[in-house]
Amino acid sequence: MTGSTKRDKIILAYSGGLDTSIAIKWLQDKYNLDVVAVGINVGQAPSSDDIVARAIRNGAVKAEFIDKRREFVEEYVWPSLKANAMYQDVYPLSTAVARPLIVKTLVEVAKREGAKYIAHGCTAKGNDQVRFDVGIVSLEPSLRIIGPMREWVMTREEEIEYAKKNNVEVPVKKENPFSIDENLWGRSCECGVLEDAWIEPPAEAWGWTTDPQRAPDAPEYTTIDFVEGVPVAIDGKNLDCITIIETLNELACKHGVGRIDHIEDRLVGIKSRETYECPVATVLIKAHKALESMTLQRDVIEYKRGVEQRFSELVYNGLWFGVLRESINAFINETQRFVTGTVRVKLFKGNAIIVGRKSKYSLYDEGLATYAKGDGFDHKSAVGFIYCWGLPNKTAARVHKK
Ligand code: ARG
Repeated sequence: MTGSTKRDKIILAYSGGLDTSIAIKWLQDKYNLDVVAVGINVGQAPSSDDIVARAIRNGAVKAEFIDKRREFVEEYVWPSLKANAMYQDVYPLSTAVARPLIVKTLVEVAKREGAKYIAHGCTAKGNDQVRFDVGIVSLEPSLRIIGPMREWVMTREEEIEYAKKNNVEVPVKKENPFSIDENLWGRSCECGVLEDAWIEPPAEAWGWTTDPQRAPDAPEYTTIDFVEGVPVAIDGKNLDCITIIETLNELACKHGVGRIDHIEDRLVGIKSRETYECPVATVLIKAHKALESMTLQRDVIEYKRGVEQRFSELVYNGLWFGVLRESINAFINETQRFVTGTVRVKLFKGNAIIVGRKSKYSLYDEGLATYAKGDGFDHKSAVGFIYCWGLPNKTAARVHKK
């Protein structure tokens, strides 16, 4: 841009979709700002057109697409896996856990570009606006946030009209009736017919997984090696973190694993019906839990369960960059010191079934557990232990009877 009046810059979280394409033009007109469009690659399906070039054609002064897949897996997905993070016990937080990394990247670009503003395309009804807004101010309190979608009141049709009137080039791919968000950890799908909670999700709502009914008739087995709670190898082969996720995801998709249909509680008080496909997350969380049940003591497992829930809520509610989440993370890491070993999983018609586990730190002692020869348990100790264990109840029963 060569104009003589220097405008302030705004960093726009840009996906290349209809909303954020229009936002480039809208931010220039409404706020008189130079727009830097930033897309962040966390493993979503690649766009069929060059969204960076299109952002420039649509008037952005600068546009880039930054590959953050490795950081996403190492710094966000693995900590969530170690926490067995599932919001309301069913949603592996695939969308939620990518938001803090997107936010961190936007803030970095804002600093580099000397921008005072950040914009995102979140609506006023969702969790994501909270994750963006709170994340941004947690990292850089001086940044100002604009949410065009919260400000303009345009329907989908009006947006298309706006694009036509203002010569905004919109994505070439045909419109999907659902709202989709994808990354390496999963796929979220809402809106359209899914808003009727009684209707079974139609085939088109599923984008990744085979219908379990049509999945292969023969099961497939795979083994996953973990080191300190983190997967490092599949079927004995050491792989880098992105390949681990992609390989397991493909296998689980083929067997129809990881479909979730859920009514969840948003932070803003709305209940919403959403479907998720989290094949790799489903397999890895199950496998990780199975290894924990072999390598962690009972009291740690029980205490950690509460911590896991709190961790999940913090991630869901946009408090990733907060002292509590970070402290909980430190606790969880400490618990993972001996979560090293191998888990064997059977994939079959929508199910991921744990069928074997082994670890050099196994606390499972066959000699103590066996009912066969070689039993190492001291049978005589049982009666004395039970006398003490039951004593409070026995005492109370005697007193209360009077
Ligand atoms: N409800 C999920 C969450 O808040 C996903 C939100 C994004 N979903 C979507 N289909 N665009 O984490």
